[in-house]
Amino acid sequence: MINDLLQRPLKDLRISVTDRCNFRCVYCMPKEIFGPDYPFLSKQELLNFQEIARLAQIFAALGVTKIRLTGGEPLLRPNLPLLLDKLTSIEGIQDVALTTNGVLLPKYAADLKAAGLRRVSVSLDSLSDERFGYINGRGIGVEPVLKGIEAAARAGLKVKINMVVQKGVNDQDIVPMAKYFKDAGHTIRFIEYMDVGNSNGWNLDKVVTKQEIIDRIGRHVMPLEAVPGQYFGEVASRYRYKGTEQEVGIISAVSDAFCGTCTRARISANGSLYTCLFATEGTDLRGLLRSGMPDDVLAGRIAHIWNNRDNQYSAKRGRDTNEAGGKQKIEMFYIGG
Ligand code: GTP
Ligand code: 5AD
Ligand code: SF4
Ligand code: SF4
Repeated sequence: MINDLLQRPLKDLRISVTDRCNFRCVYCMPKEIFGPDYPFLSKQELLNFQEIARLAQIFAALGVTKIRLTGGEPLLRPNLPLLLDKLTSIEGIQDVALTTNGVLLPKYAADLKAAGLRRVSVSLDSLSDERFGYINGRGIGVEPVLKGIEAAARAGLKVKINMVVQKGVNDQDIVPMAKYFKDAGHTIRFIEYMDVGNSNGWNLDKVVTKQEIIDRIGRHVMPLEAVPGQYFGEVASRYRYKGTEQEVGIISAVSDAFCGTCTRARISANGSLYTCLFATEGTDLRGLLRSGMPDDVLAGRIAHIWNNRDNQYSAKRGRDTNEAGGKQKIEMFYIGG
């Protein structure tokens, strides 16, 4: 196990497998910027499955027990179940999960399950076709995502729903979403809107805080009670409807940051290592892998980077100041949230 400068161990690895997406969410890949001519990564620029598996093995040896595949939209990467097969069989990896927008789940859920995946997080920001179509930038309705959620559950995958809440955009959907997924029996996590990347025009006034979300659900759905966290470094604060086992999570990266226990490393689709979601610089692991560097030397490099890590972006963010200090941050669709 290796620790960083704030005594945080390296436990989770989030791997982006593609920078492409079939959505154009307004806060992530606005269609005005990500048009038909946008230079997405070429096949040669992406890490191949052997390279991803090799890195995962090295990270597992350094203490990582949990891997999450992200994108862009990870299900756009051809043959993803083959990668899952490799990752789920690495010694030390106890949990592999996937974050997706859900529309390709009807096609792939059964294959993913067969390859050893146990759970998925599906992003869905509204139950209104109009608002969801606006947010995803493609006019895609809610039904394809709900069908994806059903397909995943039917295939035996555990499903969580992620909703990014933006004041004045979809905060009226907090209560309907809570009710719908309470009845469906899936945990929904409400995410405070964050200033990730460089193109979403974030400001503090667009954030609905954890406390406001809990109050609204308590008032209009059912009162909530806190549930103790399950593991060190858990992102969501957990709650359940009083007297039931049905849980709700809140990810309060703005009003109540959780950097103090952040155990997450991220690898972008083109193989750079980032030690924070808001990092301005990464380390090109792809170049090192392709230079023929032996695994033990590479492991030493990664350990050195983690040992010198001191990121606390969310905890230190002010109304107008942040750790990036005006530099360009890594984009969300390169590292997948
Ligand atoms: P579980 O393994 O199910 O507990 O998942 P998780 O809590 O890691 O959640 P998930 O990967 O679905 O993350 C949900 C969202 O939380 C992400 O899409 C981000 O928006 C946010 N998030 C996750 N990790 C971090 C982090 O390290 N820092 C910040 N600021 N936000 C994060
Ligand atoms: N703030 C919070 N969450 C975000 N996500 C994307 N952009 C943001 C943001 N600015 C979420 C997506 C998805 C996950 C990959 O990250 O909605 O649930
Ligand atoms: Fe795609 Fe997710 Fe970004 Fe939306 S938030 S554009 S679904 S990667
Ligand atoms: Fe970790 Fe950076 Fe998120 Fe803080 S802001 S929890 S350090 S990824």
